Amino acid sequence: MRLSRNALFALAATASAASLADVCTVSHVKSVLPSNGTLLGIDLIPSAVTASVYNASSSNYCNVAVTYTHTGKGDNVVVKYAFPSPSDFKNRFYVAGGGGFSLSSDATGGLEYGAVGGATSAGYDAFNYSYDEVVLYGNGSINWDATHMFGYQALGEMTQLGKVLTRGFYSKATDAKVYTYYEGCSDGGREGMSQVQRWGEEYDGVITGAPAFRFGQQQVLHVFPGLVEQTLDYYPPPCELSKIVNATIAACDPLDGRTDGVVSRTDLCKLTFDLKSLIGEPYYCAEQNSTSLGFGFSKRQTAEGSTTSYQPAQNGSITAEGIAVAEAIYNGPHNSNNERAYLSWQIAAELSDGEPTYNSDTDSWGLNIPSTGGEYITKFVQLLDLDNLSSLDNVTYDTLISWMETGMVRYLDSLQTTFPDLSAFQSTGGKLLHYHGESDPSVPTASSLHYWQSVRKIMYPDVSYKESLASLAEWYQFYLIPGAAHCGTNTLQPGPYPEDNMATMIKWVEGGVTPSRLNATVSSGDYEGETQMLCQWPERPLWRDGSDEFDCVTDEESVESWIYEFPAFKVPVY
Ligand SMILES: *[C@@H]1O[C@H](CO)[C@@H](O)[C@H](O)[C@H]1NC(C)=O
Ligand SMILES: *[C@@H]1O[C@H](CO)[C@@H](O)[C@H](O)[C@H]1NC(C)=O
Ligand SMILES: *[C@@H]1O[C@H](CO)[C@@H](O)[C@H](O)[C@H]1NC(C)=O
Ligand SMILES: *[C@@H]1O[C@H](CO)[C@@H](O)[C@H](O)[C@H]1NC(C)=O
Ligand SMILES: *[C@@H]1O[C@H](CO)[C@@H](O)[C@H](O)[C@H]1NC(C)=O
Ligand SMILES: *[C@@H]1O[C@H](CO)[C@@H](O)[C@H](O)[C@H]1NC(C)=O
Ligand SMILES: *[C@@H]1O[C@H](CO)[C@@H](O)[C@H](O)[C@H]1NC(C)=O
Ligand SMILES: *[C@@H]1O[C@H](CO)[C@@H](O)[C@H](O)[C@H]1NC(C)=O
Ligand SMILES: *[C@@H]1O[C@H](CO)[C@@H](O)[C@H](O)[C@H]1NC(C)=O
Ligand SMILES: *[C@@H]1O[C@H](CO)[C@@H](O)[C@H](O)[C@H]1NC(C)=O
Repeated sequence: MRLSRNALFALAATASAASLADVCTVSHVKSVLPSNGTLLGIDLIPSAVTASVYNASSSNYCNVAVTYTHTGKGDNVVVKYAFPSPSDFKNRFYVAGGGGFSLSSDATGGLEYGAVGGATSAGYDAFNYSYDEVVLYGNGSINWDATHMFGYQALGEMTQLGKVLTRGFYSKATDAKVYTYYEGCSDGGREGMSQVQRWGEEYDGVITGAPAFRFGQQQVLHVFPGLVEQTLDYYPPPCELSKIVNATIAACDPLDGRTDGVVSRTDLCKLTFDLKSLIGEPYYCAEQNSTSLGFGFSKRQTAEGSTTSYQPAQNGSITAEGIAVAEAIYNGPHNSNNERAYLSWQIAAELSDGEPTYNSDTDSWGLNIPSTGGEYITKFVQLLDLDNLSSLDNVTYDTLISWMETGMVRYLDSLQTTFPDLSAFQSTGGKLLHYHGESDPSVPTASSLHYWQSVRKIMYPDVSYKESLASLAEWYQFYLIPGAAHCGTNTLQPGPYPEDNMATMIKWVEGGVTPSRLNATVSSGDYEGETQMLCQWPERPLWRDGSDEFDCVTDEESVESWIYEFPAFKVPVY
């Protein structure tokens, strides 16, 4: 049935071989705009349509811009679409995620898959501004329209409208299947989860990496390491932190059965390795002018920018105070009643958010507040139009947790993005591929797992654990990427990374081939070029002694070490 349908489409495409120039006209696009009232709440403005052939080096496409307003509102949302040539079109629509506070501004990501792609201005000129620049009209005054558009609505509307335009553009039936994909990492991962949660029926295949989705907790967590250092009154030189991480990697690397520079089992490291054993180990780092890239959670203009800072030579040995800081950071935030408020980065992940600032006047190390956390707290929690917190004076762990709570509650239906009932997506056949680097130093790896766990419990309340795993894996699969950092490989651990997720997803959606492992490739180190078919959660990798083969094993104690509850909050945290 599926195949013959595909074959028919292919036949139709060849038979009606219109050229790109034939269809890439303003009048053709105008003729396929949905009339007002068809898409509830979306009124197209025909006079604003533009369309022109763009000659790309690979293949030409039709560059279209349409503008709509929300019924009765008088706002303006500009959406760009890139339509491949009719001969290249494969009945697909593709949405790419953005990053930081920016939605993707590039509509061409789908062309390589024969897919139409889109990008939206989200009603706040998201092509030129990042959302954090517009979230406040002024002190105390939230731009809720931008918040909901950035949160989930802009992408959902772009996709819904884009699929209607796609059918019209290629003269397909109004109910013709357009396979619809989403792919993104970091905030792009969050955006993908927002689509699964809010616009589930629109998507067939969604790939989300390291989603920064439990927004309230996630953004505030960035200042937790600095608060730990202030509270314990010890600011470890970056070289000491770096040595702690390197020595942990060296110690835990073999626990997974192969010494390859990669901690494939941070759970075994967490369960068996004592950080205190590193006290006294010497470290040395030469003087340097370091350039840090940050994680892009900043204004669009500076998202790719970098900051340079001077560090003197550091020569010392790991202290008990340094270890106490690392232990507290990896343990995660707890309130003054010692109730857990959130999880943390996995042991062996870099402690980037904990790197102190060097003060050359006093030749000492002091508090650093990463902009990822500082700006979130000023703008989204305190509602002050400031780019950074000036200090953590008088701030306690309880204060930090109250910031998390304020953010969670205030943006529960916009940014929090952890709604766990995915029935609409699942019941219309959607497939979700979710992955996370096991040594992510920005978005904690366990935060993804906590959501997977929430979905499993909410969707399958009445069946056994084993049955719920089997049912869930039919449409939602989760993979940990050994050693990987935030949305990419890790310079400290030369591990595998998945490079062809779209191929896997297209086979799953269009070919009915349900994956059971995830294809990943090692791109550096002694095992460069090695393919690793990664284990699907909750199975964990274990290398067979003396061979380059690993098994996917069930290890309850390891799995248990990834599971958290957050009693510091009175409401459930999904
Ligand atoms: C649809 O509504 C918009 C906004 O009110 C208006 O500009 C446009 O002309 C309407 N389209 C048609 C075909 O009437
Ligand atoms: C784009 O390429 C087509 C032929 O493929 C050519 O006719 C057209 O002039 C080109 N347009 C521009 C703007 O270069
Ligand atoms: C926004 O950016 C686009 C291109 O990225 C540009 O064409 C447009 O003029 C800009 N709009 C404003 C208001 O700056
Ligand atoms: C940790 O390892 C990295 C990568 O090998 C290296 O660049 C860095 O200098 C090491 N840090 C210390 C303190 O030795
Ligand atoms: C770092 O920058 C300073 C000032 O520009 C310069 O004096 C110093 O030599 C640089 N150090 C290194 C290691 O590049
Ligand atoms: C670091 O300090 C130790 C002991 O103070 C000394 O022996 C060593 O030479 C120093 N290393 C460097 C590279 O300066
Ligand atoms: C934010 O402010 C703190 C405290 O003044 C400072 O340590 C930190 O470097 C600032 N961060 C950024 C990104 O400006
Ligand atoms: C917003 O509040 C901050 C902090 O109190 C203040 O510095 C700033 O001037 C205020 N901005 C305006 C426009 O009032
Ligand atoms: C911290 O608390 C002290 C004592 O209550 C107070 O004097 C000071 O102004 C506070 N600092 C800030 C930044 O709120
Ligand atoms: C794995 O991905 C690579 C690209 O990274 C691709 O060349 C290879 O064919 C894929 N292997 C499988 C088994 O899918």
